[in-house]
Amino acid sequence: MATFDLKVIVACTIIIVLTHIQFGTCGECLPGYMGNDCNDTCSVTCQTINDDIYCDQITGRCTYGCIDGTFGDNCTDQCPEHCKDMICDRESGECSRGCEIGYYTDDCSKICSKSCENSACVGIDGDSKFTCSDGCSEGFTGADCSTPCLTPNCAMCTDASTCERCQKGFYGTTCDHTCKRRTSNCAECERSSGECVQCMPGYFGSACDQSCSNCYGGKCTIAGLCVEQCTKGYRGPFCNQSCPKNCEDYVLDGVNVTCNKANGLCARGCLKGFYGDKCNLVCPINCPESHCHQIDGVCMGEECLNDHYGNKTICDRYNGSCLYGCVSEWFGAVCMTPCGINCLPVSPLVNRTASNAKCKGSGRCPFGCQAGWKGVQCDIKTNDPTSISRLFQPSFYGIVTIVLIPLVLSVLQ
Ligand SMILES: *[C@@H]1O[C@H](CO)[C@@H](O)[C@H](O)[C@H]1NC(C)=O
Ligand SMILES: *[C@@H]1O[C@H](CO)[C@@H](O)[C@H](O)[C@H]1NC(C)=O
Ligand SMILES: *[C@@H]1O[C@H](CO)[C@@H](O)[C@H](O)[C@H]1NC(C)=O
Ligand SMILES: *[C@@H]1O[C@H](CO)[C@@H](O)[C@H](O)[C@H]1NC(C)=O
Ligand SMILES: *[C@@H]1O[C@H](CO)[C@@H](O)[C@H](O)[C@H]1NC(C)=O
Ligand SMILES: *[C@@H]1O[C@H](CO)[C@@H](O)[C@H](O)[C@H]1NC(C)=O
Ligand SMILES: *[C@@H]1O[C@H](CO)[C@@H](O)[C@H](O)[C@H]1NC(C)=O
Repeated sequence: MATFDLKVIVACTIIIVLTHIQFGTCGECLPGYMGNDCNDTCSVTCQTINDDIYCDQITGRCTYGCIDGTFGDNCTDQCPEHCKDMICDRESGECSRGCEIGYYTDDCSKICSKSCENSACVGIDGDSKFTCSDGCSEGFTGADCSTPCLTPNCAMCTDASTCERCQKGFYGTTCDHTCKRRTSNCAECERSSGECVQCMPGYFGSACDQSCSNCYGGKCTIAGLCVEQCTKGYRGPFCNQSCPKNCEDYVLDGVNVTCNKANGLCARGCLKGFYGDKCNLVCPINCPESHCHQIDGVCMGEECLNDHYGNKTICDRYNGSCLYGCVSEWFGAVCMTPCGINCLPVSPLVNRTASNAKCKGSGRCPFGCQAGWKGVQCDIKTNDPTSISRLFQPSFYGIVTIVLIPLVLSVLQ
């Protein structure tokens, strides 16, 4: 052994020198490989660590255990078919979390009796027997539920001949009477009197002749009270009242509902165009897509459907005031006031844009007035018919040129 180890050490040293440690520590394969030449692959069913597989280089035994459903050194054996969650012991292959419902024994190979309620059982006496874990299904008794109740129509008996409860639809000490029913909708009746205590789904009343079809799943008490939610569109303890017609439907407890069962309010918003807790109020007409907030009716979304406030100009969603100025012929917070008719348009030297509108802010005419008019809004008559705003006299352009040229040149430099 010692000499073998020595050989290995010497060989390793040579390999290290020759390979410049290109493949990691000598003797250690890259993840996923094994064997003397690291030519064999580890089992793909080895548990991965950061997406890499590790196994013993000599034996191939998976280093970090097996993926679910497999066991053994190389994780190449399959766990028994009915192990709970497909989990079994790495070494023995026994189902370590127990069995799927309906099976028992260490390897979950035996089937529980159908007479067990839900077919559920656990093994006892070293798995030579089983006991039903949820009790017996109707008509059977005994630890393993293999004994049939002798009374016909008996649902539960303590021993074969003593009936505790009749099957649905029957009554009497020996369950030999059918429920007293005036319709065929009685599901369960009182043991001694035969009076109906439970109707078939969707019905109520002492004769089970009244419909509770608006209760979700037809589930109601014999008095007609809905046990769960109402179906879409209905509300109230009997689900026989209508929800407000513009409520948005929503899902509650896995059921599609329209409004709060108890108070009839629209709990999750309104159909487009409406607001209020009963969705009976109409959104402002200029809200985008007629969409407004359920509580206060304020338009939702950024841009008003304006035309009203300007041509698709962005406006404040609460008060409609135009956020980026008005289009050329209008002024005012909501751009609804026309510019004075005597305002001059922008200078012919400059192209018209929203920013050089004919009038601004408070209606001021930035490019001067028509002949015969004066004032910031050009609404005051002047006697001098030749008086054109100073802005448009030739000297104005001279001044502009003198001021602008050096400015432009300095910017261009
Ligand atoms: C290892 O793999 C190489 C390349 O596939 C092959 O040439 C060589 O024979 C293999 N060695 C063994 C021992 O299988
Ligand atoms: C595990 O794999 C190795 C290499 O493939 C093999 O030699 C060994 O026999 C396998 N062991 C089992 C228990 O299958
Ligand atoms: C709803 O059903 C109950 C019970 O049958 C009844 O008393 C009530 O009048 C009904 N209400 C409406 C609005 O139909
Ligand atoms: C609710 O109703 C919608 C449309 O009718 C349907 O697509 C959806 O599956 C329903 N959801 C539930 C939980 O019933
Ligand atoms: C709104 O602006 C668009 C493009 O700028 C134009 O085609 C349209 O005629 C304008 N509408 C009104 C009502 O001014
Ligand atoms: C509208 O709202 C904006 C922003 O909140 C505000 O600046 C502006 O003064 C308001 N305009 C009017 C007319 O109330
Ligand atoms: C003004 O508009 C004309 C035609 O649309 C265009 O050719 C020119 O470049 C514009 N001038 C300025 C200063 O924007």
